[in-house]
Amino acid sequence: EKGTYDHFMLKEIDEQPFVIRKIIQEYQDEQDNIKVDGNIRAAMLDADRIYIIAAGTSYNAGLVGKQVIENIAGTPVEVHIASEFSYNMPLLSKKPLFIFISQSGETADSRAVLVKTKSLGHPSITVTNVPGSTLSREADYTLHLYAGPEIAVASTKAYTAQIAVLTILAVDTATEKGIKLNFDPLQELGIVASVMESLTDQKERFAKLAKEFFTGMRNAFFIGRSTDYFVVQEASLKLKEISYIQAEGFAGGELKHGTIALIEDGTPVIAISTQENVNYSIRGNVQEVSARGANTCVVSMEGLEQESDNIVLPRVHPLLTPLVSVVPMQLLAYYAALHRDCDVDKPRNLAKSVTVE
Ligand code: M6R
Repeated sequence: EKGTYDHFMLKEIDEQPFVIRKIIQEYQDEQDNIKVDGNIRAAMLDADRIYIIAAGTSYNAGLVGKQVIENIAGTPVEVHIASEFSYNMPLLSKKPLFIFISQSGETADSRAVLVKTKSLGHPSITVTNVPGSTLSREADYTLHLYAGPEIAVASTKAYTAQIAVLTILAVDTATEKGIKLNFDPLQELGIVASVMESLTDQKERFAKLAKEFFTGMRNAFFIGRSTDYFVVQEASLKLKEISYIQAEGFAGGELKHGTIALIEDGTPVIAISTQENVNYSIRGNVQEVSARGANTCVVSMEGLEQESDNIVLPRVHPLLTPLVSVVPMQLLAYYAALHRDCDVDKPRNLAKSVTVE
């Protein structure tokens, strides 16, 4: 049921504001307070360290989730690629809590870690779009994403739903710990939903930008610092998996340590700048690459913008910027793939859920 859409991916990108509103509704009680299952609440309070385990886009959401949980709830968090965990198992804290993030709930790499940590007796929560999935059944507790079925292989609405649900979890833990927040999280998520809508309403603009920056290109770079570094990793994954353009997301500060050697005349470099404390430095990186011939596209946020910026995002809370800055990245990837006649919803060599290790 794609309805009027040519592709599920575009439909799912468009659904994001509704999913955020649905999450706000589902995790709210009659008094407009955040409500999370009591067992999950207790597990969060008991943990001295959280280990997030995931793959692909869900891993990228976990990177943002770590920052959100540490900043809001004050619990230390580590994020691990599921398939690497068993080879490079970290030294665990005294009271570890494992959070598995998985849209499908069927990712075998993540399940292998769950089997292992369960055998060690550690508590677990699965954050998934599919209650009843393997990871949901086998973990102690489940947090539902309420994103509705995600059909396109390229994950979009699950990423933003994962970040929103982890934010709600973090706020709930903070409240239980007696930490006072200086913002209203549900109201801020509401603002996010409206901003998402204003972005999905501008599809022609993103289609044009995709044409301008990616036509005929074999590679592309995304750069960001701090929170934006997490989003550029997701941006590059989106672009490569559906358009087959070789893409990498880098920390702006790492350019001079190697990557800048790859910049040639016309190389597309997309920079995200939504954080005040790194705005100056990332713009320095944009100048460095553009002096070497790069075709630069800057996505900034109101209050930090410069006249030459290609996209200026309406302002949202600094911790929640990934929820909105990822939307232009998803749309750029979508239109880049479309312009190259790629099979957007079913890219070559990929499956929607990866049930083998
Ligand atoms: O179902 P999961 O969230 O566990 O899937 C993890 C990855 O396989 C998935 O995010 C994959 O990277 C997507 N194709 C990315 O768009």
